Amino acid sequence: MLHIYDPKTQTDRDLGTPPPVETGHSVALTIDGQAVTVPEGTSVLRAAAIAGIQIPKLCATDNLDAFGSCRLCAVEIEGRRGLPASCTTPVAEGMSVITQNERVAKLRRNVMELYISDHPLDCLTCSANGDCELQDMAGAVGLRDVRYGYEGENHLDAEKDTSNPYFTFDASKCIVCSRCVRACEEVQGTFALTIDGRGFDSTVAAGQDEDFMDSECVSCGACVQACPTATLMENSVIEQGQPEHSVVTTCAYCGVGCSFKAEMKGNTVVRMVPFKDGQANHGHSCVKGRFAFGYATHPDRLTAPMIRNHIDEPWREVSWEEAIQFAADRIKAIQAKYGQDSVGGITSSRCTNEEAYLVQKLVRTAFGNNNTDTCARVCHSPTGYGLKQTLGESAGTQTFDSVMKADCIVVIGANPTDAHPVFGSQLRRRLREGAKLIVADPRSIDLLKTPHGGEGIHLPLRPGTNVALVNAMAHVVVTEGLEDRVFIAERCDAGEYAAWNAFIREERHSPEATEEITGVPAEQVREAARLYANAGNGAIYYGLGVTEHSQGSTMVMGIANLALATGNIGREGVGVNPLRGQNNVQGSCDMGSFPHELPGYQHVSQDGPRKAFEDAWGVKIDNEPGLRIPNMFDAAIDGSFKGLYVQGEDIAQSDPNTQHVEQALSSLECLIVQDLFLNETAKYAHVLLPGSSFLEKDGTFTNAERRINRVRKVMPALAGKEDWQVTQDLANALGYRMDYSHPEEIMNEIAALTPSFHSVTYQKLDELGSIQWPCNDEHPNGTPIMHEVDFPIGKGKFVLTDYVPTTERTNRRFPLLLTTGRILSQYNVGAQTRRTDNQTWHDQDWLEIHPHDAEERGINDGDWIGLTSRAGNTVLQAKISTRMQPGVVYTTFHHPVSGANVITTDNSDWATNCPEYKVTAVQCEKVAKPSAWQQRHLEQHEKQWGFLKTNPIDEEPVLK
Ligand code: SF4
Ligand code: SF4
Ligand code: SF4
Ligand code: FES
Repeated sequence: MLHIYDPKTQTDRDLGTPPPVETGHSVALTIDGQAVTVPEGTSVLRAAAIAGIQIPKLCATDNLDAFGSCRLCAVEIEGRRGLPASCTTPVAEGMSVITQNERVAKLRRNVMELYISDHPLDCLTCSANGDCELQDMAGAVGLRDVRYGYEGENHLDAEKDTSNPYFTFDASKCIVCSRCVRACEEVQGTFALTIDGRGFDSTVAAGQDEDFMDSECVSCGACVQACPTATLMENSVIEQGQPEHSVVTTCAYCGVGCSFKAEMKGNTVVRMVPFKDGQANHGHSCVKGRFAFGYATHPDRLTAPMIRNHIDEPWREVSWEEAIQFAADRIKAIQAKYGQDSVGGITSSRCTNEEAYLVQKLVRTAFGNNNTDTCARVCHSPTGYGLKQTLGESAGTQTFDSVMKADCIVVIGANPTDAHPVFGSQLRRRLREGAKLIVADPRSIDLLKTPHGGEGIHLPLRPGTNVALVNAMAHVVVTEGLEDRVFIAERCDAGEYAAWNAFIREERHSPEATEEITGVPAEQVREAARLYANAGNGAIYYGLGVTEHSQGSTMVMGIANLALATGNIGREGVGVNPLRGQNNVQGSCDMGSFPHELPGYQHVSQDGPRKAFEDAWGVKIDNEPGLRIPNMFDAAIDGSFKGLYVQGEDIAQSDPNTQHVEQALSSLECLIVQDLFLNETAKYAHVLLPGSSFLEKDGTFTNAERRINRVRKVMPALAGKEDWQVTQDLANALGYRMDYSHPEEIMNEIAALTPSFHSVTYQKLDELGSIQWPCNDEHPNGTPIMHEVDFPIGKGKFVLTDYVPTTERTNRRFPLLLTTGRILSQYNVGAQTRRTDNQTWHDQDWLEIHPHDAEERGINDGDWIGLTSRAGNTVLQAKISTRMQPGVVYTTFHHPVSGANVITTDNSDWATNCPEYKVTAVQCEKVAKPSAWQQRHLEQHEKQWGFLKTNPIDEEPVLK
């Protein structure tokens, strides 16, 4: 049965001021004679709203601290003089409030008269008509006339700022309520806006009175959201008019998993509005989820299935039936010729849980092997391994909200303000409240520059030395007696702890001994370790700077050791928290996409779980793990792996050592690519199956806090089929029967077979808004904080984490270390964001280089630089930056032509094969032409887009 989520049943209502800090006490009062009981500290405005009484307001809104500037919310309070503002007046026991009488009505009309006399009278043609609080309030206070006339001094000629591609600032409509300024400070934490001038001359100014685009504004949209007038307005609404209906769904970009209302006109998305009841984002957003949705209707979208016999031939557009049959026939022929194990499938962390589940099921049933893998292989597979070994569950331990109880926040190898922006804003809020910050990163990240966030400790370690650093911190903890002995005695395995204690005490792990390895001064490491261990609540957040190393799994276990030793597990404000890059990295791992695990991390060698799947699916499942992605590439080059089905993943751009990947893909006899666009992988495909965007399907994503969020269809699938339907058709054509009629049925099957999902249903997701797994008989509404009482493996386990240097070393030929990362405006391989106005901020990948290294090589800002590693070479433009330490260069990987992964090597994590993206020895020099790979890439780009008979997407700036 299909459940439609009705946002009207949710509390998506503006109560005027935020909820008070909980004291456990309540207060009874009367409002217009009605008895009301509310928590102590509640404002009169909010108390009235809770009681269903709407007091007019303009400068107040319930996600910002009350400001008390407009005076529209004035009320009469028995026994008090004057007419106090209800937004800044807290309730008091026995208080009697009158919200409406002639006195307050007159005051409110006077206030509105002043506003309206300096406001354009273009309501009927205004883009906010019907969605304007000023208009609403004029009606609410009964304003019928303006006595001051409209001819006096006013701001009606003020210039518009149209510099931002997504919203316009029309100062003529500004009522200087400062909601935008406060939203930028309190919600986003950027402090880009101020009110300039005084009295009548007050205006909103961005930065140092610049255009929005030239200021520090990061285009999160919080000010647009907060503005009660049409002053700050989405360009899409200005162009298309007000939306008419909305559907609540989940952002398909990063692992924060923000909830949005897709506000629609027919089947067109007019705007994405962050959903107030979204339990991961509480009504906030970033530039990607808020504005960068235009890719879904970009002309580059694939709209019809296509096939070809050879990758040097043009595509033939065919029916879905013909494409699916063609793919199935080829897979069967390959298996008949090369054996059952000669084919496999790759799922994507961009797809829904239901889609990922179906792909691995197709591989294990219709293909008949375990050759299934996911792009999580190349990002967080060490998290799965490391946390399973130590804490017994392959997932982060907290909710995002838990950070608001943290006293010391440790961020390792992550850049939340760019890669997880909404959580980055939450982190900044906590830092402004006084929490301490420790950042372990080769680069100085923006979190260290949090306005009003205090001085953080930056541990600028050399790339590849994480394990030595975390061991040094643990050494300080045990040798200085900072461990939590009670927690260790009650919650951890005693024998393993004793062995670990003896190991970590060894002098070779001391900050003094490791200083030479990490480059971080010993005293700084000691200071950081003491701060974390003594803080009360210490919380660790980490990203790909931890996992994408040859010792990624070791480092994850080192982090868990540190948290266990200090008792920072099992309550709010603490924990070990992997920040997952893509929207559904957690989910794609949960769904059994790895070759060694069935859904719910049940190993294929375990007879019980395997039998349950065999019975449910009616097939025998191999009890040996299948091929991982890098094994598939090697086997393809060796000639034993010939067919691959890739759903929603661009392995040719995102996997390391591009030339090796290209060789593997060229060796396949059948590559089936299901995607939105002709991506880099699709250029090697024989079958192209159009994918559906997140707006075109139902399902669920699971975010970095294990939160399962509903994805709801808001428009029909462009090519007629949702992704899960295509996988089902392929299974059926291969002779394995699947007959789901809706993704809800797939979720029901997942719940039946996956212990941590046992009680998950779409109905419950609709009722609760979201659910954090485990959700089962023991935790019927989910589990916000993990390991509160015990661990799934009983006791917490300490693991010996010896530091083993990577084999990727600098030498005279390759004297610099390259590390890679993301930036705010682009997402992953950029296939989506490059097809939006986010290009305005980052239309190419730059090579950041320290002035010292640049000077040594005669490199100036903007020079084209040849970047060479042991794996290959490419050419990028230089940006001189002191964010890097000398000896380290940095780039992003959002643009195919930049070839960042031509440079990265085959080195990988010892336990999971997660590539060592973060450490590549390189040399840089000024060059005058693109690399040989780039020239081939450009030729291939032209050729393959020519085969598609469509204009190619513009290539990014490249040296010609
Ligand atoms: S731009 Fe909007 S939110 Fe900001 S001060 Fe003006 S009216 Fe208020
Ligand atoms: S869009 Fe966000 S960052 Fe930019 S001014 Fe508005 S609130 Fe601040
Ligand atoms: S990209 Fe991430 S932080 Fe931004 S809106 Fe989407 S889920 Fe939220
Ligand atoms: S809403 Fe209370 S003073 Fe503006």
